[in-house]
Amino acid sequence: MNEKTELLKNFIVLEGLDGSGTTTQLKMMENYLKRKDIPVYTTCEPSPLPTGRLIRRILRKEVTVEPETLARLFSADRYEHLFGSVDGILTHLSAGEVVITDRYLFSSFAYQSLDCGFDLVRDLNKYPLPEYLIYLKLSPEICRQRMKNRDMEELFDADRIQKRIIENYERGMDIYSKSGMKTVVIDGTRRPGEICSEIMKAIGR
Ligand code: TYD
Repeated sequence: MNEKTELLKNFIVLEGLDGSGTTTQLKMMENYLKRKDIPVYTTCEPSPLPTGRLIRRILRKEVTVEPETLARLFSADRYEHLFGSVDGILTHLSAGEVVITDRYLFSSFAYQSLDCGFDLVRDLNKYPLPEYLIYLKLSPEICRQRMKNRDMEELFDADRIQKRIIENYERGMDIYSKSGMKTVVIDGTRRPGEICSEIMKAIGR
């Protein structure tokens, strides 16, 4: 079934497995657009807001909640991140900025579906879609090697699970295949500079 959802122009989402390089691309895209004098606002999920800070504590295993609670917290954080009256994504888009976020609802499809099932996650995430979804595609093996360099072990890191996360990402992208959202799949093993150029070409900047 295909979801019919509102599309937000100039809203760009970066997605991929842990270690796929979304944060590097976020920074590179921001620098590139700033050099061209294009107003840009970059952000991430979990958000920097109190809701997102609670989620990060859960991911670090400092606080324990049920998987469904976590799925609902991600959804609540997303609501605040989008619609928050002071610094929400919609406010930045209305001000004429290009908004790029490191992760969005596709991450909930990818990760929360593991424990909560796809349908619940879909019900919890009926939010506007970005104009562009950039998906950095990487094999679980390469992600694992990259993750070894990080000091903090988070949930969801094991290899077998990564494969299921990829399947959930693909399923999540599939339900929006006729929504009008432009999905750009990029080989995440390429050099960061090449990936950034490819993204900029794809979004016509
Ligand atoms: P990440 O951007 O990888 O944080 P950092 O690189 O700063 O540690 O995101 C943290 C984790 O959150 C990542 O493993 C994916 C997970 N996540 C979900 O499970 N569901 C979601 O909806 C989002 C946005 C993230």
